[in-house]
Amino acid sequence: MNKTEIVLEGRNITKQYKTKGRKIQSLSDVNFALHRGEILGVVGESGSGKSTLLKMITGMERMDAGDLYHEGTSYTNSHPGKTGKFLQMIFQDAYGSFDPRRTMKQSLLEIQHTSMQDVLDMIEKVGLTPDLLERKPRQLSGGQCQRMSIARALLSHVDILLCDEITSALDVSTQAQVVTLLSDLRKKEGLSIIFVSHDLALVGNLCDRIMVLKDGTCVEDGKTEDVIWHPKDAYTKLLLSNAITITE
Ligand SMILES: Nc1ncnc2c1ncn2[C@@H]1O[C@H](COP(=O)(O)OP(=O)(O)OP(=O)(O)O)[C@@H](O)[C@H]1O
Ligand SMILES: [Mg+2]
Repeated sequence: MNKTEIVLEGRNITKQYKTKGRKIQSLSDVNFALHRGEILGVVGESGSGKSTLLKMITGMERMDAGDLYHEGTSYTNSHPGKTGKFLQMIFQDAYGSFDPRRTMKQSLLEIQHTSMQDVLDMIEKVGLTPDLLERKPRQLSGGQCQRMSIARALLSHVDILLCDEITSALDVSTQAQVVTLLSDLRKKEGLSIIFVSHDLALVGNLCDRIMVLKDGTCVEDGKTEDVIWHPKDAYTKLLLSNAITITE
């Protein structure tokens, strides 16, 4: 397997929602390719279709048109039961993704073919200590819980993580720790990651490539340095100038 191998690909992904007689074109003909060991950033204003794209990729919802491929094999409109074998979503609300009544140990040991030793090894890998395994989700900090959800994904032996605004509920230093962890895991474990975020500075630091969504279409994609330093599209320029104004 070479480094530029495409692990996940989407072609012409299209999704329209209908609510109260109104049609919302959430995604129109969106194309993307995720290479092995790569972090692909997805940015765009609220409502641009970022979360919808991840929902289509996981199969949580059906798309209207388009095709999805994992390692070259089509899995278009497959259910999460199938896609869960190769990808897992990490949510903004890490607490909500765990059973509140169970300890972390119980939740992690529920994953198929997982021994206590596997759990302990993984806890160390994500930078946590074993004592935290005795706690329930609400007894953890946001960053610790986020690491637990990354540990859960890795114990399931997926090689693709889909991260939807996973750092937006965390303070800046915890954000940095989670981002560093993802970056390390990508290098050490060869994980491929789609990282959705509002935070252009963060995406600029973490991601290899960036895709910019606006009103459900991809207006620009390319290498991070090209998109950040030489944006072609007017909307990308606007996003960048807004980001600079906020951080100044
Ligand atoms: N289940 C749904 N029913 C109707 N409309 C929906 C549904 N889910 C999303 N939408 C609409 O689709 C568009 C894209 O939504 P999406 O959640 O993908 O945006 P987003 O880029 O993730 O935004 P944010 O940054 O706020 O999370 C929005 O106009 C949204 O209102
Ligand atoms: Mg969203």
